[in-house]
Amino acid sequence: MLRRLTLFAMVCSSLWEVSAAQGQTLDATLSGCAQCHGPTGISQLSETPHLDRQLAGAIEEAMLAYSEARRQTAVPLHKQVPRELVSGVAAFYSGQKSGVRPAQNVDALKVTQGEAVYNRHCYKCHDDAGRESDNEAPLLAGQNLNYLLKQVMAYKDGSRKQPAMMERASRGVSEEDWIATAHFFAAQDAVGPAIGKKKRRRSGQ
Ligand code: HEC
Ligand code: HEC
Repeated sequence: MLRRLTLFAMVCSSLWEVSAAQGQTLDATLSGCAQCHGPTGISQLSETPHLDRQLAGAIEEAMLAYSEARRQTAVPLHKQVPRELVSGVAAFYSGQKSGVRPAQNVDALKVTQGEAVYNRHCYKCHDDAGRESDNEAPLLAGQNLNYLLKQVMAYKDGSRKQPAMMERASRGVSEEDWIATAHFFAAQDAVGPAIGKKKRRRSGQ
């Protein structure tokens, strides 16, 4: 009996050590990410995306795409996150919902132009001006303007591949219109009402 108990205690303590080590690794990983994405996923660097509030699935998909080289990145750390930590990282950022993102300088004319493009091409997946999602589309409301500009240009010139569904929906969108959508999404409050009058999933009118 005593031996059994000892064994039980040993198993318990080694399990505890494993989970403590994993906890440290997740913390260590997140502190690396915080250098650019901020401690709660709100980035002060305009070319770096905010990760707070983002759908966990969208973060996981981005990390997998980086590690499998389906999506290019200049940040080596993106490819070095151990796979078993990816869901923990995604859950952490997705759960950060109390922070306030810095205000941005958007071009009001482009916001209006972007709204019209959004209402024609984008609203079916990036619902409610980018605050909601269908078809696993990432949330885009209030995302950093310079990050969005880089992504839409990369989609337009093909250096970032669009998901097939989005490619079909965005056929014929000009460079100027892509740029306008970046201003439109950046102008949105991540939580508040949409800019322009909201009409079901579309925005404005
Ligand atoms: C040196 C700065 C830097 C560090 C460190 C960094 N990132 Fe990034 N991250 C960026 C930049 C810049 C982008 C956008 C461009 C790109 O993909 O390279 C980005 C993009 C992302 C995206 C894509 C977001 C989207 O909306 O598609 C995710 C997810 C992400 N980072 C997660 C992480 C995680 C998790 C870590 C820590 C393991 C991390 N990043 C560390 C700068 C950084
Ligand atoms: C049919 C659904 C669908 C439609 C319509 C759609 N998207 Fe997307 N969008 C997605 C999905 C899914 C992703 C995630 C792509 C990935 O993981 O590479 C995405 C990603 C994006 C991103 C990158 C987000 C990030 O965090 O890096 C931007 C920017 C974007 N979409 C803008 C648009 C714009 C602008 C339109 C309209 C012209 C549009 N989308 C229409 C589904 C859609």
